[in-house]
Amino acid sequence: MENARAASPTPDQVKAYYDAFSTDRMLGYRVYGNLRIEKAIEFFCSSIEPNDSVLDVGCGIGIATEAMASCTQGSVVGVDISDQNIWYATQSVSMSNLRFVSADVLDEAVKLPLDAPPFIITLCDVIEHIPESQRTALFRRLSALGGPSLKVMLTFPTAFNLEYQSQEEPSELQIIDNQIPPQTLAQEAALAGLSMTYFRMIPVWREVEYAHCIFERNESLKSRVRTAVRFPRSLRQKLEGRLVDPFVRRSRRRKYIDGIFGRR
Ligand SMILES: C[S@@+](CC[C@H](N)C(=O)[O-])C[C@H]1O[C@@H](n2cnc3c(N)ncnc32)[C@H](O)[C@@H]1O
Repeated sequence: MENARAASPTPDQVKAYYDAFSTDRMLGYRVYGNLRIEKAIEFFCSSIEPNDSVLDVGCGIGIATEAMASCTQGSVVGVDISDQNIWYATQSVSMSNLRFVSADVLDEAVKLPLDAPPFIITLCDVIEHIPESQRTALFRRLSALGGPSLKVMLTFPTAFNLEYQSQEEPSELQIIDNQIPPQTLAQEAALAGLSMTYFRMIPVWREVEYAHCIFERNESLKSRVRTAVRFPRSLRQKLEGRLVDPFVRRSRRRKYIDGIFGRR
């Protein structure tokens, strides 16, 4: 696809770009499969509980959205700015708990049709395509939409990957394609009351190519840290090391205590 990077594209330009991207690229992901999306699905589905409601922001043609809807009986909504993507998603995926909506998530005037506040909000390769100046507003919006124990799960190309692409494969870059250092993202999300609780750089086709990351609400983390984890007594003793075999314990004492401090 021709590189159509613009300095500050309007929402209409973004929409037109992704309408064209839908047939130029995304249908290929459906037909041939896509390892990046497969890894994202594995990551998202590992956190989805059977009744969780999910909002998939920038759902494209709904590949990950469909996979997530099969992990839960809760309602799943996919939203995308491209009418073409949403048209195709609606034609190709039909599940009773899944709905697709065409909307710009950055448009505060848009009311998303959510039955309940989502437990999980996913952005599969979307955050890097949001104008830098609007990322904090987006986090605030997602935080306001989500339930009390909201998890925002993101996948995005690492800054190393985008740097490589800008030098070696500039035509692969999309209309907006920002390098985002994790610290910057964490600061922006913090302004919406969200803390980064998970961050990994993972290989897809190349090393350190994508970041998988989770943000959770501060309030939910504060209440969780007060909740004592109850282990059975035997497991607690094991974890505290008191169940180590007496013979092993004696030989460790000889080596690590007596051997170092001398016999007392
Ligand atoms: C790289 S594609 C990823 C699509 C899909 N999540 C996937 O992984 O295949 C980025 C998607 O974000 C959508 N998008 C970009 N800006 C958006 C906005 N302001 N509101 C809603 N969707 C947006 C685009 O239309 C596009 O489908």
